[in-house]
Amino acid sequence: MALFGEESMNMPFLGFAAAMAVVAAWCASSEAADPNPPAEPAAAGTAPKYTASGSSAAVLALNRRLGRGINIIGWDPLWHDFSRARFTDEHFRLIRQAGFSHVRVNLHPLRDGKPDAGGKMDPAFFKTLDWCVDHALASKLLVVLDYHDDLAISPDPAGKRQAFLATWGAIAEHCKARPAEVLFEILNEPAPKFTHESWNQYHKDALAVIRRTNPDRAVIIGPAMWNGVGELEKLVLPEDDRNIIVTFHYYSPFDFTHQGTPWTGQRDKVGVTWDATPRQRQAVLDDFAKAESWAVQHNRPLYLGEFGAYEKADMASRVRYISFVAREAERRGWSWAYWQFDGDFIAFDIAGRRWVEPIRDALIPSPK
Ligand code: BGC
Repeated sequence: MALFGEESMNMPFLGFAAAMAVVAAWCASSEAADPNPPAEPAAAGTAPKYTASGSSAAVLALNRRLGRGINIIGWDPLWHDFSRARFTDEHFRLIRQAGFSHVRVNLHPLRDGKPDAGGKMDPAFFKTLDWCVDHALASKLLVVLDYHDDLAISPDPAGKRQAFLATWGAIAEHCKARPAEVLFEILNEPAPKFTHESWNQYHKDALAVIRRTNPDRAVIIGPAMWNGVGELEKLVLPEDDRNIIVTFHYYSPFDFTHQGTPWTGQRDKVGVTWDATPRQRQAVLDDFAKAESWAVQHNRPLYLGEFGAYEKADMASRVRYISFVAREAERRGWSWAYWQFDGDFIAFDIAGRRWVEPIRDALIPSPK
């Protein structure tokens, strides 16, 4: 089986030197006027209250630059057979043109990297990863490399620990020359066999592995129990590492955002609306106030790495909800990533080669 199809055989796989050229081009072009700059989320908001004395100035600036993002390619067939890719080079450009400033790449290093007993991973995994990072950077998108194999790890954290750390070691080594615009996210939604205590040790161990080769890279860490906003209190981070961005996911009210989803036992529970009533808005604002107060107290920048509402909710409600959540995150100076580009909750219709416009416009409103 050819891993890469004919079309992609012509694709320039960028080596180290070429990758550096991309970085140089990025740096040079950041001096020049960008003909198509992404929307500036901070414009609508207040400055975040974190200080450079508490978090590194670089990580605060980087979180501002992450801005508006979107989750991509977690279940794309390209991981198994590049000739069957749904997501292609052009989608990076379209994402950028729509006004997003980063992609959160949902990686499955165990599923697709297939580490052997010594932790050595399939080179095809890195080839695809490099394709993704090269093209995202070339489109001036920042990149969050999100270790999304939670479903493989969460049922057996102790049993998977060695493979988890070995794969992080390999990914960190492989990506160590990448620019600061590439960020690492230690693990998506750790649950339910993790306790807060065991997760705090787990992410600390992974961070130590990453820091051996990437001493200054921005690393994203969220709390156990599915990165729930109410769990931030339990997250313990190494005080002296200030190049950390803290993430949480927001899908509340769950009976609205996950109505009709087969994987949550709500397949038949549909018809729940989100009407932006004072009570509904206040529930979001209360949750966000708690997150913000945690962030200020601990002096860490926040990244809302997933939010959205499934297709079974009515479109008008989805639009109201998505735009409310996104604007409220921006008002607090948080970066965010919508769940997701393709697959389900879609923002882009790959077969039809067009955005789901109400969703795109809710995420990236046109300038007034
Ligand atoms: C999971 C997806 C799920 C989404 C919304 C993600 O973190 O990986 O499987 O569809 O959350 O529930």
